[in-house]
Amino acid sequence: MAFRSQAMPGVALITGAASGIGLATAVVFVEEGVTRLVLADINYDGLATASRQLQEINPKVETCLVKCDTSVEEEVENMVTEGVKKFGAIHYAVNNAGITSRIRIKTHLLQTEEWDKVQGVNLRGVWLCQRAELRQMMKQEAELSTRTGAPPERGAIVNISSLFAIITHPTVGAYSATKAGVLGMTRTDAVAYATDGIRINSVLPGFVKTPMVEESMRRGADYEPIINTIPIKRWGKPSEVAQAIVFLCSDRASMITGEALCVSGAKEF
Ligand code: NAI
Repeated sequence: MAFRSQAMPGVALITGAASGIGLATAVVFVEEGVTRLVLADINYDGLATASRQLQEINPKVETCLVKCDTSVEEEVENMVTEGVKKFGAIHYAVNNAGITSRIRIKTHLLQTEEWDKVQGVNLRGVWLCQRAELRQMMKQEAELSTRTGAPPERGAIVNISSLFAIITHPTVGAYSATKAGVLGMTRTDAVAYATDGIRINSVLPGFVKTPMVEESMRRGADYEPIINTIPIKRWGKPSEVAQAIVFLCSDRASMITGEALCVSGAKEF
């Protein structure tokens, strides 16, 4: 089947889709014409609410909701299996599920369990998802036609890293390590799959007001001094990150792979 390039025609999979940037990404996919979405999260009730929200935007939207802890191999395998069982393919995959360290503390105070937990979701989890998605995409035909005239694609993956992969703060060592790891994995696999019609990019959000950040603020993190150092002088919105993610999945980005796109109001400069 050859898809037309006017609306985004494929099946989208998003992890961490019940909240924040993941939910906003699902909304933008639907606004861009995607009608088949695999939504995964540990929070199933949140997915059900998200699904209703998407169907309000477009009643033709079909969702496959999967309760999935992305740090658990079997659950990640099951997520892709369920999505393919319902929709037959996965074309756009956004590996977004992530957590921060429980408390922002310096390394000498950090417990090994906390390091393992953050690594498990933010790095191992993204790798497990990417591997499962690549295994599926490699089975698919290159059927996504591009309006740019580039060869048809099998799919596109976007991994959510963080500005903390490239800037420093004394208390986010464990988190930064995972997010820098995501950049390395993205670049390497972008090269490895470049001739297979699969593009892989990462997005580095800066400071975005989401439930994750609000929870961190409740635990005492004071972001305001940091926000004042951002050249654009404000919080990012989940929808602003989502626009970048969906662009990188779309056929408009057909020559873009292996990139790390900051959505940060110029904080990295
Ligand atoms: P959020 O907390 O609003 O959403 C994260 C979602 O992931 C939640 O629905 C949560 O239930 C889900 N989740 C957590 N652990 C999971 C697991 N093991 N398996 C499946 N789902 C799981 O957070 P937000 O801010 O939307 O974060 C999304 C991504 O963006 C994360 O990877 C985060 O590190 C990254 N990010 C966020 C920034 C921000 O300022 N909000 C800045 C830089 C990166």
